[in-house]
Amino acid sequence: MNRIRRTLLQSILVLPAALVAGRGIGLGAAYAAGPGNLVVYFSRSGNTRVIAGQIGRAMDARVFEIVPATPYPEDYEETVAQATRERESGYEPALEAGVENITDYDTIWLGFPIWGGSVPPVIRSFLSGHDLSGKTLIPFITHGGYGIGNSLTVVAEHAPQARLAEPFVLEADQERRTLERVTDWLGQR
Ligand SMILES: Cc1cc2nc3c(=O)[nH]c(=O)nc-3n(C[C@H](O)[C@H](O)[C@H](O)COP(=O)(O)O)c2cc1C
Repeated sequence: MNRIRRTLLQSILVLPAALVAGRGIGLGAAYAAGPGNLVVYFSRSGNTRVIAGQIGRAMDARVFEIVPATPYPEDYEETVAQATRERESGYEPALEAGVENITDYDTIWLGFPIWGGSVPPVIRSFLSGHDLSGKTLIPFITHGGYGIGNSLTVVAEHAPQARLAEPFVLEADQERRTLERVTDWLGQR
C-alpha cells in the first residue's frame, strides 16, 4: 500500500474516534484546574452542594460554602416567607464568614438554587462583599422547574467588573414537592 493510501485509511479510521472523544469535552476543559479556582456555593437542601463538590474535585479547587450569620428557619414555608421579604426589600444578610484571600483566585464557580425566581439573598451579600473585578465568574444554578428567573441579571449587577461565563443550569428536586408527597402519604395512614 502506498503512503498516501495508508494515510487516508488511517484518517478515516481515526477521525470518528476523535469526534466521539470530542463530544466529551465540556466547559471544564476550557479552564485549567488548580489553585486559581474557587468554588463558592449556597445550598439549603443539598442539590447545589453535590454539584459544588463535583466541580471542586474536577478542578482541584477549594470549596467555600456561603453560610448566613443567622441561619434560615428549618421550616420550608417560613424560609420562603423570609426570603420573599428579604428579596423585596433588597436586604443583604450578614454572612458567617467571607473569603479572606479572594485575590488568590481568578476563576470563581458560583453555585446557588433559585429562590423566588432570583438569587438567594446571601448571594447578593457575597457578591457585594468581595471585589471580583477581572475575575471569571461561572454560575451553576439549580431550580425546581421554573427556570432561572432574573438571577443572571442580579449576579451581573452585583459583580459588574467580573466576566460572566455561560452558566450550568439544572432542574432538581424541590423540597416543596417532597413535603407535599410526604404529607399526602402521612394523611393516608
Ligand atoms: C425559599 C425557596 C424558594 C424557591 N423558589 C423557587 C423558584 O422561584 N423557582 C424554582 O424553580 N424553584 C424554587 N425553589 C426550589 C429550589 O430552587 C430547588 O429545589 C433547588 O434545587 C434547591 O437547591 P438546594 O438543594 O441546593 O438548596 C425554591 C426553594 C426554596 C427553599
